[in-house]
Amino acid sequence: MASLQLSLPSTYRFRHRPVRCADERQTLFNRIAPVYDNLNDLLSLGQHRVWKRMAVSWSGAKMGDQVLDLCCGSGDLSFLLSEKVGSNGKVTGLDFSQEQLSVASLRQNMSLKTCYKNIDWVEGDALDLPFPDGYFDAITMGYGLRNVVDKYRAMQEMFRVLKPGSRISVLDFNKSTQPFTASTQEWMIDNVVVPVATSYGLAKEYEYLKSSIREFLTGKELEKVALQVGFSSARHYEISGGIMGNLVAKR
Ligand SMILES: C[S@@+](CC[C@H](N)C(=O)[O-])C[C@H]1O[C@@H](n2cnc3c(N)ncnc32)[C@H](O)[C@@H]1O
Repeated sequence: MASLQLSLPSTYRFRHRPVRCADERQTLFNRIAPVYDNLNDLLSLGQHRVWKRMAVSWSGAKMGDQVLDLCCGSGDLSFLLSEKVGSNGKVTGLDFSQEQLSVASLRQNMSLKTCYKNIDWVEGDALDLPFPDGYFDAITMGYGLRNVVDKYRAMQEMFRVLKPGSRISVLDFNKSTQPFTASTQEWMIDNVVVPVATSYGLAKEYEYLKSSIREFLTGKELEKVALQVGFSSARHYEISGGIMGNLVAKR
């Protein structure tokens, strides 16, 4: 495992905010940060890049917008948003894992794309956002909602900081109600994801995936929660045969 550690810069630029509800998940995401991007490519055969493009497109982000990428991790969705909003726009990537933000910041500094300068990294809690009401033109969240301890609260916070008429786009594993899809998903986790993660010394870190999907909300339940917190419309789209899903809700 030591050989997989990237050497990260001792200083990196992002705003620090105290995180109220740190738990073992924070430690988990800190631990997997150095290999997270490689594993995503390997485990999805590069497909996660397509799903993330779809999520950004559903967010409705456009040139000049002020947008938020929640649970941004190493920044994949933030970088796509950066290109969408251009140098007159602004992207904020928020995460509670310092290690993930450090990788995101390193990727930003190493890129030749000048528009990436429009991204700010903020260390913070998705359940207690350090932003005023009605501030953002669009919000994305990739593989974050399943991981937060209070999904209802996370949706309330997204609703609060979003401008009226704007959209959130929430990409994650789909908790399918179809037995065949659900068992295919579990088979892939047991026979592909966990063995590959094991070869990276991260078996325990990826074993939680199956239970996190079981404990997640179905597409219909996600739509219901979005409407309950105040969104005027909500629609969940299944992707890749129902293995993944994306919730789109409009304030
Ligand atoms: C599976 S990663 C997804 C990263 C990135 N969005 C992507 O799609 O590649 C989930 C991220 O959610 C972050 N996270 C989980 N709970 C959080 C919370 N309450 N506040 C902020 N970040 C959180 C973790 O630190 C981790 O980086």
